[in-house]
Amino acid sequence: MNRMLVGLLVLLVGLSALSTLMYVTQKVSDSWPPHSHTKTSSAAAAAPSEVEDSTGLLAFKLMPLIQQKRPDANRKTVIITGHGRSGSTLTGSIFRAPNWVFNYEPLKLHDWPAGLSKRFDPETNTQCRPDPLQVYHKMRCPVADMMYLLDLAHCRTTDMPLQAVTLEVDDVPGDDVIRRLNATAPLRGTRDPACARRDLAGVAVKTIRINGHMDQLFALSEKLGLRVDLVIHLMRDPRAVLASRYSVGWGMPENRSYDATLAWARDMCGRTMADSRAGGGRVNYMALRYEDLAAAAVARTQAIYERLERDVPPTVLERMRKNDAQSQGGDSAKGAGGGGKGKPHQYGVGVRNFIAQLTKWRQELSQVEQNAVAEGCREVLRTFYSDIDELVKKKSSSDGGGAGDSKDTNSNTQHQVQSKSRRRWRQ
Ligand SMILES: *[C@@H]1O[C@H](CO)[C@@H](O)[C@H](O)[C@H]1NC(C)=O
Ligand SMILES: *[C@@H]1O[C@H](CO)[C@@H](O)[C@H](O)[C@H]1NC(C)=O
Repeated sequence: MNRMLVGLLVLLVGLSALSTLMYVTQKVSDSWPPHSHTKTSSAAAAAPSEVEDSTGLLAFKLMPLIQQKRPDANRKTVIITGHGRSGSTLTGSIFRAPNWVFNYEPLKLHDWPAGLSKRFDPETNTQCRPDPLQVYHKMRCPVADMMYLLDLAHCRTTDMPLQAVTLEVDDVPGDDVIRRLNATAPLRGTRDPACARRDLAGVAVKTIRINGHMDQLFALSEKLGLRVDLVIHLMRDPRAVLASRYSVGWGMPENRSYDATLAWARDMCGRTMADSRAGGGRVNYMALRYEDLAAAAVARTQAIYERLERDVPPTVLERMRKNDAQSQGGDSAKGAGGGGKGKPHQYGVGVRNFIAQLTKWRQELSQVEQNAVAEGCREVLRTFYSDIDELVKKKSSSDGGGAGDSKDTNSNTQHQVQSKSRRRWRQ
């Protein structure tokens, strides 16, 4: 019996040494929290969804000790965040390349043990919020979410998100949760095998599910030493977002009245401003307007990679060329025939139409709705979209007020209640 145990122990030590060696030679290393060897963790239950193999696990536990001295400056970490229908798919595709690991909306499918979400009471809990668009459970808890994203960005899976959510469903404030995570080592974890590539340039995570919580992302990242090289904060003209939401049928105001639209706009744009303030002035924060990306996809992509001090992967460059309004359309003939296989971008139809695209929402939203968004998003529009407001004004005066679009708009949509779906977009 004892002999068996000793044998097993020897085997385990051997395996862990071997796999540690494997990780070190693969140079898949990390700026792991420096205190992580102080193992004082609470006995939080293990996440059932976690995939685990015992060798990787042991190596993982030893890694922090070894890797503290060798943080991997080579692998970049990028988080892309913005509201749904802001062009986050196009932005995310900037990092769809063989030498990048790209995590698309990981929070959408992320699950917690069933008991936890049953414990969540949306009436009394001030930390977590309901998320009707969530697939497996109907709540979002910000620190747990951030922890999960940061884990992914660092090529790992740990029980720390579960530790966080266990506190958050009991309404422990975010700062306290972060403090407790900081004093705790992960009980277990695995490495993302996708990160094993030797030529890995970086890991990108794209999410539309943390709007208004960027301060927590930065706090957690800094306090736990989980570096994020670039947070791309994506924006789009809120009026265009609203028109787009109606076209897909989710994330809309309760109805198309002024009050409901105003409440929707205040919520969304309040989050945009909060995130912009949380990021403003940080070297690893970049605000990106979808309109600018669509207008000059290649140039913007190059600027992003320059900031990351990495080369644009050829597949990405090719993709962005096809999405580039300037080279695809414009008044120059050069892009016109060169589209090839890919469908040209919706904006790739010449400068005049590009401008029309930017203000297309005017045909789709009633004047009442436009006014409500203008009011609820006053600060966002003034701070980020004054140039497009100018365009709108110019267009209005050149239309002379008699153009068909505004007439149609009013009769069609002013008091109409959207029947497709009443789902509210609460983030
Ligand atoms: C995190 O832990 C380290 C070491 O345990 C400690 O020095 C630091 O003050 C802690 N930070 C926070 C924000 O609690
Ligand atoms: C529209 O929604 C608001 C709540 O945002 C509600 O007060 C109002 O009664 C609704 N109006 C209609 C016509 O359903």
